[in-house]
Amino acid sequence: MHVGYFITFEGVEGCGKTTQIKLLSEFLSARGIRTVLTREPGGCPIADKIRAILLDAENQALSPLAELMLYAAARAQHVTEVISPALDAGKIVLCDRFCDATVAYQSFGRGIDRTVIDALNLHACQGVSPDLTVLVDCDPTVGLERARRRIEATSGPREERFELEALPFHHRVRAGYQQLAADEPDRFLIINGSDTIEEIFAAISAQIVARIPEALRAVC
Ligand code: TMP
Repeated sequence: MHVGYFITFEGVEGCGKTTQIKLLSEFLSARGIRTVLTREPGGCPIADKIRAILLDAENQALSPLAELMLYAAARAQHVTEVISPALDAGKIVLCDRFCDATVAYQSFGRGIDRTVIDALNLHACQGVSPDLTVLVDCDPTVGLERARRRIEATSGPREERFELEALPFHHRVRAGYQQLAADEPDRFLIINGSDTIEEIFAAISAQIVARIPEALRAVC
C-alpha cells in the first residue's frame, strides 16, 4: 500500500489523453501538489529504449507474444525505477497508459489469452495498481485521423506501428477499455473524448480534485 496517489490515463489512439494529462500535471503542480508525469511504454531510459522497438513502424514482424513481453519488461523497469519510489514518497503519479493498455491492446486487440496477460501484469506491476483511471473514450475513426495528422507533423522517429493497424483492431481496443471500465466502475472515470479540450479538462479536473486524498491536496 503506497502513500501517494496513482492516476492513469487510457484510450484509443488520438483520443486526446496526452494533452489532458499534461494539462492536469500543470494544474496540480501550480497548486503546489507534488506530481510526477510519466508514460508507458517508457518513462525511464531503459524502458524508453524498449519503447523505440515497440513503436518502430519498421518492426512489422514483431510477434504478438514478443510484443507483450516487451511491454511487461518496460513496465517492470518503470515501476521499479519511477512509479514505486514516487508513490512511496507521497507524490501523485500521472501515467499516460499502464496495465489496462496491455489488456485492451494485447488481449482484446491481438487476441492473447487474458490469463497470460493478467499474470504478466501482476509480476510487472509489483503490487502497484492505479487508484484512478481516466478513460478518454473516443471513436477510433476520429482518433486515428487526429493521430495521423500528429505523426505527419512530427520530425522525430515515426512511432506509428499501432496507427498502421486496421480499424477493426482499434474498435476491439475501444471495446476492451469499455469492458474494463464496466468491470471496475469505482476505479474508472469515463470522459467523452469528442468534447473540446477545454470541456474535457473541466470535467477531468473537477473530478480529480474531488478524489485526491485530503492529505495530498495541499491548496487545491
Ligand atoms: P501512446 O501512443 O499513448 O504513446 O502509446 C504507445 C502505443 O503503445 C499505443 O499504440 C498503445 C500501445 N500499448 C500497448 O499496445 N500495450 C501497452 O501495454 C501499452 C502501455 C501501450
